[in-house]
Amino acid sequence: MTQDGLKQYALSSAASHKTPLYGTAIGTSDLTLQPRSRAILRHCNLVTSEYEMKWDAVFRHSHEPDYAAPDDLVAFARDNGLAFHGHTLWWHESIPASHRESSDKVFAEAAMQHLRVITARYAGQLHSWDVVNEVLEPAHGRDDGLRGTRFLNAMGPDYIGIAFQEAAALDPNATLVLNEMGLEYAHPEAERKRRAMIALLERELSRGTPIACLGIQSHLTAMEQPRHHPDLRAFLREIDGMGLSVMITELDVSDHLCPRDRAERDRVVADTYRAYLDLVLEESTVLAVTTWGLSDDRTWLNAFRPRPDGSPQRPLPLDRALRRKPAWHAIKAALLKAAAHRNSTISD
Ligand code: G3I
Repeated sequence: MTQDGLKQYALSSAASHKTPLYGTAIGTSDLTLQPRSRAILRHCNLVTSEYEMKWDAVFRHSHEPDYAAPDDLVAFARDNGLAFHGHTLWWHESIPASHRESSDKVFAEAAMQHLRVITARYAGQLHSWDVVNEVLEPAHGRDDGLRGTRFLNAMGPDYIGIAFQEAAALDPNATLVLNEMGLEYAHPEAERKRRAMIALLERELSRGTPIACLGIQSHLTAMEQPRHHPDLRAFLREIDGMGLSVMITELDVSDHLCPRDRAERDRVVADTYRAYLDLVLEESTVLAVTTWGLSDDRTWLNAFRPRPDGSPQRPLPLDRALRRKPAWHAIKAALLKAAAHRNSTISD
């Protein structure tokens, strides 16, 4: 089949019918491997930086920032007509070693300097930014459910509003996203986190914090994620009622609970993708669906959640040889169903 033939079935073509953008997390190593960069261009119309745009990555080698890698990623997207989702300005797990022990005053100044410089550097070039990442942890015991981090200790709970106001001033064109993990699950802790997120968003929006979109990371587990999830539906309706859009920012489906049989695993993973995407796309204005990697060889899950039987995880749309799996077809079907629904509501 010719390149164009593949193009017409690409996920991105599904996403071009007024549905969300579809994309993947990438690194500069993906750009040097021809088959992989070709697969990204064939299937995606958005990319995000998995690691190299983070504060610790930019300051990885010295006290001076090195933007060569994020520059290459943004240039790749620009040169190929892809949208770029910036990830992430402030995250408690991406603080440079040089600032982990600094005083609150020095830390706050350095964090603000990093935010200002990198936001200004890419202003006008990005579709969106994960401005702050993983701000909630109800288990830390605060009434507001905020996670105890260096950002909170150094700047107080206003750090979230400060980050969004600064990013909006420096890049008014980017959609500003509050990105969070663990909102998708069915267990009681997830419901506590969803309630805390609603309260946080109500507080911040009432203060004029320019949050436009909620990022839902969506690291799912096959055989654990429920098909019918009324609490998540209710949560998404509240988010929609606040006038906020949603981005599915780090989607993957761990198969560590699945049997070893490859066909069975792929089926259960695809079914999890389909049920979850159908639910979120029905209840939200989804700007983009991003999988945390495009092919199974690029998943972080082999390190984070290895299978008990030692076989490699199969959590992503393409296999290690960049061939489409049932998960790819599940994502495409969900995007096309959303397109059909959106077109029918537009024409009504
Ligand atoms: O590139 C260097 C390499 O030169 C060096 O030899 C090697 C060993 O030190 O490290 C490599 O960098 C690693 C980088 O991934 C690229 O592989 C970093 O150490 C490692 O910390 C980094 O991990 C990333 C992690 O975030 C921390 O930034 C993962 O790739 C990435 O998948 C993960 O993504 C996070 C999201 O940002 C937030 N949500 C959770 C998600 C999973 O943890």
